[in-house]
Amino acid sequence: MAQPAQSPEPPADHIIVLFGATGDLARRKLLPGLFHLARAGLMPRRYRIVGTAPAAEALTDQEFRAHAQQAVARFGRSRPEGPDWEAFADALSFGAADTGAADPLMTAVREAEATLGGKPRRLFHLAVPPVAFTSMIDLLGATGLAEDGKVIVEKPFGTDLASARALNAAIHAVFDESRVFRIDHFLGKEAVDNVLALRFANGLLEPLWNREHISHVQIDVPEQIDIQGRAGFFEGTGTFRDMVVTHLFQLLGFVAMEPPVALEADALRDEQVKVFHSMRALDPAHVVRGQYTGYRAEPGVDPESDTETFVALRVEIDNWRWAGVPFHLRTGKALAEGRHLVTLGLREPVLRMFPLDARAAADGRSNELVIDFDDPGSITAHFLVKEPGPSMRLADAAMVFNYGTSFAAQNFLEGYEHLLLEAMRGNQSLFTRSDGVERLWEVAAPLLDAPPAVEPYARGSWGPDSIDALVAPYRWHLPVRRRVHTSE
Ligand code: BG6
Repeated sequence: MAQPAQSPEPPADHIIVLFGATGDLARRKLLPGLFHLARAGLMPRRYRIVGTAPAAEALTDQEFRAHAQQAVARFGRSRPEGPDWEAFADALSFGAADTGAADPLMTAVREAEATLGGKPRRLFHLAVPPVAFTSMIDLLGATGLAEDGKVIVEKPFGTDLASARALNAAIHAVFDESRVFRIDHFLGKEAVDNVLALRFANGLLEPLWNREHISHVQIDVPEQIDIQGRAGFFEGTGTFRDMVVTHLFQLLGFVAMEPPVALEADALRDEQVKVFHSMRALDPAHVVRGQYTGYRAEPGVDPESDTETFVALRVEIDNWRWAGVPFHLRTGKALAEGRHLVTLGLREPVLRMFPLDARAAADGRSNELVIDFDDPGSITAHFLVKEPGPSMRLADAAMVFNYGTSFAAQNFLEGYEHLLLEAMRGNQSLFTRSDGVERLWEVAAPLLDAPPAVEPYARGSWGPDSIDALVAPYRWHLPVRRRVHTSE
């Protein structure tokens, strides 16, 4: 995990080679993120960023700088101007590369290395569509560029067990696992590191973090946005592969893990992978696939499409800590709100000293711990207190820790920024390991083999109605309501 306070040293000098430099991810996240790191003083003392793309999309160095400037102006957190920008733009260059024709890239990398002098590290970021992954990896191997370098690989890491194995084999033919950084931007969110801090740095919560005290866990990532014209990508992928196998299962690994023997990459990833091994293979009867009404009319979508834009599922973890505690996962497009929440529902006290009225009983009264993974996030403990006054009325209360109001905003790193920095530092803690990825596809196999039919849901809702039965007798945490319980 990240340890900026203990590691004030900037990363070693680097050449960063950005495959897909003209693409959407580079424009929205990578170029603005790298510029933010530069402004925050977190880039190496000496670095160069070499953009690359197929020759058909080649840019000159000047054009690449202008492209980056527009990207930062549109999506960045600070304006691309002044001496910080000049220095950053100066570090950018471009070299096209196609299979069998990588000379412009080779030249650009050599020039960048000559400019820096010494022996800078090489970091390759493959921000390219899955079809291009293996040919780019092969290119890095064939040209010798890969030598001693690290590679950042973007999701999806395969679409099933066989394709994940094939992809890992292709990567390992060129890069050994210690140099592979499979990026999942959810794991770069501050709140993920904070789950570790919360659990393992405090005596307050860890004793409660098990089946004795927790009745159910909910990992909820509803999105308000729809597919935003990305039919080409979405039709072949669907929400389960896009969001669950990657982001939600990764979060689950951190929430459910045993204490690692040390806060270092393999110890953490060992524990995460153990959770994945304890996960029961998914039962399609415990999965609701949904599709928002109107999806089939989106441009580029098959009018009879069976692709899910929503999924909710119940996951069981067969280990000593979590046996019998259901994990409820939900995510989807075009939902009522956009949130990133993990909710731990605490068991009720053994004795009911405070009788509930009918409404409160229907609502349930378990205490909850809610971890909000938004950037910046928050942690809230919900509990019941007595309202002041002569009668024994109970009311909801909350203890709230808010990152945004508790710490200086300029110290925040967004998911991608955090992970780019960790990759430069060579710290793999927050990156997915090949055995973990393969295990998750194994867990997913029964669902992929026999997916239940998609059920329609209205835009702006919380998904198909059947999700309530999926989690009964528990309830989905959202929407948050203010409740007053009374014993009168
Ligand atoms: C991406 C998915 O990985 O994550 C998108 O491909 C999704 O479909 C996005 O919208 C959500 O990320 P965030 O950080 O905005 O919740």
